[in-house]
Amino acid sequence: MAKIVEVSSVAKDYGEGGIITHALRGVDLVLMAGEFTSMAGPSGSGKTTLLNIIGGLDRPSSGTVHIEGIEITQLPGTQLSRIRRDRIGFIFQSFNLIPVLTAFENAEYVLMLQNVDKEQRVERVMRVLREVGLEGLEHRFPRELSGGQQQRVAIARAIAPEPALVLADEPTANVDSETGRSLMELMRRLNEEKGITFLFSTHDRAVMERARRLIKLRDGQIIEDTEPRNL
Ligand SMILES: Nc1ncnc2c1ncn2[C@@H]1O[C@H](COP(=O)(O)OP(=O)(O)O)[C@@H](O)[C@H]1O
Ligand SMILES: [Mg+2]
Repeated sequence: MAKIVEVSSVAKDYGEGGIITHALRGVDLVLMAGEFTSMAGPSGSGKTTLLNIIGGLDRPSSGTVHIEGIEITQLPGTQLSRIRRDRIGFIFQSFNLIPVLTAFENAEYVLMLQNVDKEQRVERVMRVLREVGLEGLEHRFPRELSGGQQQRVAIARAIAPEPALVLADEPTANVDSETGRSLMELMRRLNEEKGITFLFSTHDRAVMERARRLIKLRDGQIIEDTEPRNL
């Protein structure tokens, strides 16, 4: 099995001079292709910081991050953006859809940046929207969709470019628990059927329970790394 992510001795400090926050203090983590992993930990434990560093949205103060064997922490911006665009999907707590674009256009957007031709874009976007259960709602704007449906659009957008890795920062935090469970079922199915590697951060029991591997973070360090269920 291929290593998708390798985090080695990553530290992240915020602030300078007076008050410095040690958001991460020496994190080591390997994710293999096809894993479905949750990161749990109290607010402020460093979950978002770690996801942002793995996804190349932020750079560590020290340490290295490899994505599919490529060390990303020293890459120039243009190369890093390309890896982010082509290999990594992001799902956020607050959905982060573009309000003036329809569900279809939100999911299509990255494919346009990738210069995928129109015919292929339509084919792929219609397929992923069907896969996330939004058939018939392609032309709705985000404000015309429920929170759960908006998060399904965000999932479709994340998987449309066929990434190796999807990072999801508290993806169920803004929906009710029943909707959260169904979103987790969906992502689990995408993981099993398409082999996409997922890494979540969460406070939510239902998310932790769906994970095959559970990592606990506290004060910027991994304090536990277990496989609670062998499914
Ligand atoms: N941009 C920032 N500037 C300063 N401190 C930050 C910044 N982002 C996060 N922090 C601090 O880093 C620590 C970890 O934050 P975060 O990664 O957001 O934790 P979590 O997602 O687990 O709640 C917290 O103490 C937080 O206040
Ligand atoms: Mg967070």
